[in-house]
Amino acid sequence: MTKTLDVDIWTPIKIGDCRLTHRVVLAPLTRNRGSASEKHPLTWVPNDLMKKYYVERATPGGLLITEATPVSVRASGLFGIPGNFTDEQLEGWRFIVSAVHEKGGFIFSQLWHQGRTTHSALIGGQQPQSSSNVPMQGTFGWNGFEARPFEVPKPMSKDDIIDTQNDFVNAAKNAISAGFDGIEIHAGNGYLFDQFLHSNINTRTDEYGGSIENRCRFVLETVEKLCKAIGASKVAVRLTPFGMLFGQTFGENRLEQWSYLCRELSKFGLAYVHLVEPRFDELKSASEKQETLKDMLTDGEEEVSLKPFRNALGPDTPLISAGGFGPENANEGLGNGTSDLVAFGRYFVANPDLVARLKSGEPLYKWDRSRFYGPFEDNEIGYTVFPHREFAKKGDIFKAQLAD
Ligand SMILES: Cc1cc2nc3c(=O)[nH]c(=O)nc-3n(C[C@H](O)[C@H](O)[C@H](O)COP(=O)(O)O)c2cc1C
Repeated sequence: MTKTLDVDIWTPIKIGDCRLTHRVVLAPLTRNRGSASEKHPLTWVPNDLMKKYYVERATPGGLLITEATPVSVRASGLFGIPGNFTDEQLEGWRFIVSAVHEKGGFIFSQLWHQGRTTHSALIGGQQPQSSSNVPMQGTFGWNGFEARPFEVPKPMSKDDIIDTQNDFVNAAKNAISAGFDGIEIHAGNGYLFDQFLHSNINTRTDEYGGSIENRCRFVLETVEKLCKAIGASKVAVRLTPFGMLFGQTFGENRLEQWSYLCRELSKFGLAYVHLVEPRFDELKSASEKQETLKDMLTDGEEEVSLKPFRNALGPDTPLISAGGFGPENANEGLGNGTSDLVAFGRYFVANPDLVARLKSGEPLYKWDRSRFYGPFEDNEIGYTVFPHREFAKKGDIFKAQLAD
């Protein structure tokens, strides 16, 4: 990949084996709209509604990343999310992938393990697993699942780690056999890999804890196995070096650790690395987030940014950046060479035709947070059907973004 500053979101780029004609990417978005399987307990399957949702957001030469999909029952923990590990799930995904391909689009599957953020009742009575026995604080509830305290997770043994890596390899091979153009490992947002990366959760004293290199070992080993299994050009990784999921991920040495991780990841020749901007947080404003992260400032920087990680990745690993992008700042990272592609989450929820709107300059619809996560009886509302749309006025985009 030749790096040039003279790019915008309409400049073609090749990532992995995909020749993209633009750089507007659908961010991975959990929407909980899958159907319960009657054949395999505790699993969910893609359906026609999900196909409609993905196809509506597909564009010729554009990249979609699926919602996070569990690699096994044990990796699961939410209703309505199809994984990549049963025959029915693969059949459903194949149907979606081929419809996206017919439209000329590309699609990666995000592979997921929730670790300690699940509940034994949702995974067949098994104890949730994590790096250590440090539980999530608070309670876990969902539509149709009464809130109850998080449980103490089982610290994963070496065998558990190998089994989990095998589940990822299996799910990745399945995804490729279903036609996906690649897979993205979800290694952020406080889920299993992040539970190894953060020193406030990972208290291990073996080769998977206690130092930067050790905390990164689980994800790096998994990436290596995935590259061997399906080829590095089909493997990508998502990281959230600034993430604080519900104030529960606050490990030390973030700057050094994620820089090390990016340096190591750059050696594989991955399809891309996907990073979330520091400003994005479910609870804090962009300025509060900057204040909290100020120990991650590097010399000469006034604001915490993705730049140190871009530098650590080097110029040859494409970087997708996500978090707080809209029409006004879509080219911000591309222009200064920080990132190569831009992923949109909430705006893509509310604007299936986001790519066309960004191109024409038409205003964007606001999102309705109450319809983000299903399952609902009327799953299509806020997903493929938007009965109460309100236009964000031109020039009022940032206000609209904060108004959810
Ligand atoms: C409804 C919803 C579901 C999400 N699900 C996922 C997910 O499955 N995997 C993931 O890595 N991030 C997930 N995220 C984070 C988004 O991918 C994205 O990083 C975030 O929304 C910031 O981008 P935005 O400002 O364009 O919305 C989710 C965000 C939202 C709003």
